[in-house]
Amino acid sequence: MELLSYTFFLFFLIAGEEVCANAQDRRMKTLTHHHHTYGRFRPTKLFVFGDSYADTGNNPMSLASSWKAPYGATFPGKPAGRYSDGRVLTDYLARFMGIKSPLPYKFRKYGPGKLRCGLNFAYGGTGVFDTGNLLPNMTTQIGLLQRLIKDKVYTKRDLKASLALFTVSGNDYDAYTSNGGTEEGLPAFITNVVNQMAIDLKRVHHIGIRRVLVTTLQPIGCLPRQTVYSSYKQCNETENTASEYHNQLLQEVVATLNNNTKESSFIILDTFSAFKTVLDSKTVLTGNSKFSLKPCCEPTRIDANCGSLDKNGKELYTVCNEPESMFFWDTVHPTQAGWRAVYLTLRSSLNSINA
Ligand SMILES: *[C@@H]1O[C@H](CO)[C@@H](O)[C@H](O)[C@H]1NC(C)=O
Ligand SMILES: *[C@@H]1O[C@H](CO)[C@@H](O)[C@H](O)[C@H]1NC(C)=O
Ligand SMILES: *[C@@H]1O[C@H](CO)[C@@H](O)[C@H](O)[C@H]1NC(C)=O
Repeated sequence: MELLSYTFFLFFLIAGEEVCANAQDRRMKTLTHHHHTYGRFRPTKLFVFGDSYADTGNNPMSLASSWKAPYGATFPGKPAGRYSDGRVLTDYLARFMGIKSPLPYKFRKYGPGKLRCGLNFAYGGTGVFDTGNLLPNMTTQIGLLQRLIKDKVYTKRDLKASLALFTVSGNDYDAYTSNGGTEEGLPAFITNVVNQMAIDLKRVHHIGIRRVLVTTLQPIGCLPRQTVYSSYKQCNETENTASEYHNQLLQEVVATLNNNTKESSFIILDTFSAFKTVLDSKTVLTGNSKFSLKPCCEPTRIDANCGSLDKNGKELYTVCNEPESMFFWDTVHPTQAGWRAVYLTLRSSLNSINA
């Protein structure tokens, strides 16, 4: 089963278009050229560092839920390594840029043409520090790109035409808690995490990537794994306060980083506010029913996850009929519809990439 979907996936990659930019992008470039707006930055490559909010297939097929049914049911129609029923933030950012979603690093050997879109180094479950899963932390992820630069896969000129996305969505804090970290110690640990983010962001820019996007920490108290205790009625505000503290520190370090570069090289993508806006709004941007806090794919046992099977192969989860009307896919990740709504909310702030 695993092997079959792997083979199919490779076929899919090889059969895909060789060029990175899509038709719309080529049209836009012609337009831009015609009007002599040479000052605008139009990145043609995307390099992604982060966790499951950005991973599009790097995690091991044999272990990760992202490669199990019912993940990927909406897009591409079968499990393909995304922690959602379909597209995630990376895919929507690539769409905004007018390029194809960058290939997961793991598949770099199978789609040479697609290296032109950049690469995705994000691994679900990782953090800036090690989170106890033997997957590459952010330091190691950045090192993977550095090695490719050393091997001349990407040139200085490529990097100058590139955008980086950096997602840190809380795995460091989960690891902190499961390692017995105390509530009193949390503010100091949040400071450590954000300071490490600053080191990583600076390094990505120093490598030569012209502009670096970094997401704020989403309202972690609104994730279904928390709201389940109130039957998905309300967010845990104590946890959201931790997100806000993280984000406040992040704003400060990013302001300092920008102060030390000629142009504003670092841009905050405020996913915290976008999640809040989308979850609080009375109507969804795409329809007329409000998103709830309930996940589409819901475990039926406390020790199960979306995608879990019991020893007889029976599903330990239920899946909703209309994932397109739900914000959350599983207990921590948005659906494709959720990401799309977040993306539409963030789109105006994405324009500063091109400034
Ligand atoms: C990242 O991982 C590497 C390899 O496991 C480790 O040596 C390094 O200390 C880690 N970096 C951080 C900041 O935790
Ligand atoms: C909110 O989260 C905190 C920290 O995880 C926890 O101690 C508290 O019990 C939670 N409150 C509710 C109402 O679930
Ligand atoms: C930015 O630089 C100016 C001048 O050096 C300084 O006064 C200001 O405090 C700096 N701001 C930040 C956020 O570092």
